[in-house]
Amino acid sequence: MGSVSLKIGDGTARFNRATLCSSAVNLLMLFSIITTNLFALYAFTSSPEPEHHSFHLSHQKNISLISEQVSLILREIDASQKKLTQMEKDLLGYESIDLSDPSIPTELKNFLQHHQLPLGKDSRTGITEMVASVGHSCGKSLDLMAQFMKYKVNGPCPEDWSLGQRLILQGCEPLPRRRCFAKSIPKVGLLPYPNSLWKNFSDSIFSWSGIGCKNLACLNSKKLNRDCAGCFDLVNGYEKGKFVKGRGKNDFLIEDVLALGSGGTRIGFDIGGGSGTFAARMAEKNVTVVTATLNVDAPFSEFIAARGLFPIYLSINHRFPFYDNGFDLVHAANGLDISGRQEKLEFLMFDIDRILRAGGLFWLDNFLCTSDEKKKVLTRLIEQFGYKKLKWVVGERINGGGNSEVYLSAVLQKPVRV
Ligand SMILES: *[C@@H]1O[C@H](CO)[C@@H](O)[C@H](O)[C@H]1NC(C)=O
Ligand SMILES: *[C@@H]1O[C@H](CO)[C@@H](O)[C@H](O)[C@H]1NC(C)=O
Ligand SMILES: *[C@@H]1O[C@H](CO)[C@@H](O)[C@H](O)[C@H]1NC(C)=O
Repeated sequence: MGSVSLKIGDGTARFNRATLCSSAVNLLMLFSIITTNLFALYAFTSSPEPEHHSFHLSHQKNISLISEQVSLILREIDASQKKLTQMEKDLLGYESIDLSDPSIPTELKNFLQHHQLPLGKDSRTGITEMVASVGHSCGKSLDLMAQFMKYKVNGPCPEDWSLGQRLILQGCEPLPRRRCFAKSIPKVGLLPYPNSLWKNFSDSIFSWSGIGCKNLACLNSKKLNRDCAGCFDLVNGYEKGKFVKGRGKNDFLIEDVLALGSGGTRIGFDIGGGSGTFAARMAEKNVTVVTATLNVDAPFSEFIAARGLFPIYLSINHRFPFYDNGFDLVHAANGLDISGRQEKLEFLMFDIDRILRAGGLFWLDNFLCTSDEKKKVLTRLIEQFGYKKLKWVVGERINGGGNSEVYLSAVLQKPVRV
């Protein structure tokens, strides 16, 4: 008597998403349990002295009082439950995808539906069901998403990587496609490592689906982005000299930067690393570098892998899938270039800081500051993190259009914070 059990949503606990928010839910739950129990306690115990002579009258009174209180409690529970359900929906972003919508492909429904663990609650983690991990923004581009998820389970995946990438760039990351076979491409002519680092590859080992160019020669004739002009030419091009021969004071050499790390540089992360040359040069120094890349206009990810290097297919809007304090080095060139709001750069800087170990190096490589304001914002942000400036070079260059551009290159050391 007087005890109230609360049922949340479909009656199962959930442990995904931000724990911060789920503790808010927990607090709310706790609060409503306590209040409803107090109500009940009050209803059943608070009363004046017994009065025997008007027993029946008072009995009736008591009952109506109790039933009044009980209905109050029930209303309270109902309201809290509605509130909780709404909060839960807000938390689990993808519940904004209305699974009852007939235009949603079955495979997407199957993927998003929660699946109870077959053996019940897992005693170690407390988890009762498996919840699919999918970008909350996927629901925003439901038409693209529906198109992307129309495939035959167990069949070949459609060759539509440009569509997948478009979704990723709209924040739909990770993607929900799981149960089809990606087209397999025979990788003929791969060389053993480390000979693989600087050899030409045949065009036929890459997928050109959704890419304007259909061969490497075409890619090499283009400036794909600020970090990749002819960057697939590993034999004759400029790529060969990168990081080992400087063109100017803003180009630091790998050897010099490694010396600043005083021998403690073993693993690194390269953001927006073009065709993987930074990782290749680092590999020659026995430093393992993971290169973050998407296949925007070129098969970057496959090319890096063909060199025997580790690509990670990821947009920089995504929290880095690495644990804290792991890396000795983070290198970022223009991959860091986020137009728009300052917070975006801040989110990125905090994440870089998180994965770097204390004493680790952050190498900002020829970051283009399109305006003085942008340089100031970046400088302020960097200073806020309290890094030691081991190198700091602001340089100017005349760009193709004849205008001068300001570049910032820096090597910063993460402090030990207590
Ligand atoms: C009615 O409630 C009072 C306390 O509020 C209690 O003393 C009394 O015994 C109750 N009467 C009956 C018939 O339950
Ligand atoms: C490698 O590719 C470049 C251009 O991309 C070409 O000039 C060169 O002849 C090729 N070398 C070999 C060994 O195929
Ligand atoms: C890399 O490691 C190999 C094998 O341990 C060693 O022979 C080589 O000298 C190292 N290279 C550098 C640049 O440290």
